[in-house]
Amino acid sequence: MTESILELHGVTKLFPGVVALDNVDFSLRRGEVHALVGENGAGKSTLMKVLTGMNHPDRGSIIVDGMPYAGLTIQSAKRLGISMIYQELNNIRMLTIWENIFLGREIVKGGLLDRKAMIAEADRLLSEFDLAISSTQKMAEVTVAYQQLVEIVKAASTNVRILIMDEPTAPLSIDEVEMLYQLVRKLKNAGVSVIYISHRLEEIFEIADRITVFRDGKYIATHLVAETNEDMLIREMVGRELGNYYPPRVVMPLGPNLLEAKKLTTIKIHEASLRLRQGEILGIGGLIGSGRTELLRAIFGADRIVSGEVLLDSKRVEISTPYDGIGHGLALIPEDRKQHGLLLRMSVRDNVIFASLKKFLRGFLLSPDRMKQAVGNAIVRLGIKTPGPGQLVKLLSGGNQQKVVLAKWMETNAKIFLFDEPTRGIDVGARHEIYELMNTLKKSGKGIIMVSSDMQELIGMSDRILVMKDGRVAGELGDASITQENIMRLASA
Ligand SMILES: Nc1ncnc2c1ncn2[C@@H]1O[C@H](COP(=O)(O)OP(=O)(O)OP(=O)(O)O)[C@@H](O)[C@H]1O
Ligand SMILES: [Mg+2]
Repeated sequence: MTESILELHGVTKLFPGVVALDNVDFSLRRGEVHALVGENGAGKSTLMKVLTGMNHPDRGSIIVDGMPYAGLTIQSAKRLGISMIYQELNNIRMLTIWENIFLGREIVKGGLLDRKAMIAEADRLLSEFDLAISSTQKMAEVTVAYQQLVEIVKAASTNVRILIMDEPTAPLSIDEVEMLYQLVRKLKNAGVSVIYISHRLEEIFEIADRITVFRDGKYIATHLVAETNEDMLIREMVGRELGNYYPPRVVMPLGPNLLEAKKLTTIKIHEASLRLRQGEILGIGGLIGSGRTELLRAIFGADRIVSGEVLLDSKRVEISTPYDGIGHGLALIPEDRKQHGLLLRMSVRDNVIFASLKKFLRGFLLSPDRMKQAVGNAIVRLGIKTPGPGQLVKLLSGGNQQKVVLAKWMETNAKIFLFDEPTRGIDVGARHEIYELMNTLKKSGKGIIMVSSDMQELIGMSDRILVMKDGRVAGELGDASITQENIMRLASA
């Protein structure tokens, strides 16, 4: 038996109305990459907070190097070499890379900061991990991907022995994900144990040695990667058989043009043109930073249009604010839902009905029954894990917050839905539901534009695909020309 450097026994964590962790066991070996999977709200992030000392368990024990603890504090976790890369990067953008790496543990010589030594050491670390950037650059000057890789290098330069990554690839493009894998492999070879949380199973099969599944706060099983497969994991995560991942493509007789953009130009995009017809899903592919999100924002009225025009139902319209966009029947479901799509201090109920209050009017009054029904439906359909509709959104898990935003926009009577990475951070069960909902919208004559970095999703759901590169539309693919190779070629050629 390989020794574990970390073991959890019977760990339980309760929140008002929620058993986030229910008598959970977990073990981690030295130098392994251990993936943790489960549906939104399964307890993954909570377990990681228990390990980093942010949450104190109500019951159970944590054994590190054979020593049992009833709970850890932020200080003791640090001392034991447990470190976490956060989703919201906590580096300071106005400082240089070396300043970020040595923040709080500066090298001092003769009472003064030894700037030279820190720069030299930071550059050595960056080259050790094959990162082609200079430590004297400001954090703000490098891409989000590099900012995250610097965070990992920083953790690696301390005494880290257990590194936790919670959905690390969310902001990364395909080639950047490759860089992340290489970093993870280096750490592993140096004997660091990595706990890797992700909803993307392809990723897990690529990088992990073992996989542990959680469901509803409970430990379900641990497998060697070689001894399991996607179907088995999905069954364990969801607790039931989950037919075909992508529902059969609904092909609608295409109606008239709902939307046309002609040579749209903003600071970020150049002469981008597209058209969307009734009953159609138009996919938009491309690398991170290629202008996909900006194209959606321009159409919606969130970014200033420098030149070009937008036509709705073949009539030119002036959309210069999101308010105009909504007024013209557009809905934008943003990528960064936590920042742009939610009222965190309000309840699930208020968030879901907020954008569609008009629909619930009975004369001059809001109809409580109809609102209750709509919110209840959304909770069931999308599987939003919440003790009830009154729960504050900020107390939901990351993925469940995302589901609330989706539910909110699905309730509106918009005609055109602009989805930006609709299933990022969303679990497998709900993903299927979201695809079904998109098909329902399609059947009722709406139009959808969907930006996605998930190749399978893009190919599985789109009727046509536009590929963007450097702020321009690099090409359009339809029917038989929709292949992964063609998308990649246009995106990076
Ligand atoms: N501070 C809190 N107060 C109340 N409930 C909480 C709190 N933190 C987490 N929860 C609840 O505990 C459960 C587990 O949440 P957790 O964040 O661990 O899920 P997760 O597996 O990380 O999900 P996701 O994939 O969506 O990130 C959820 O039902 C969540 O709403
Ligand atoms: Mg989480």
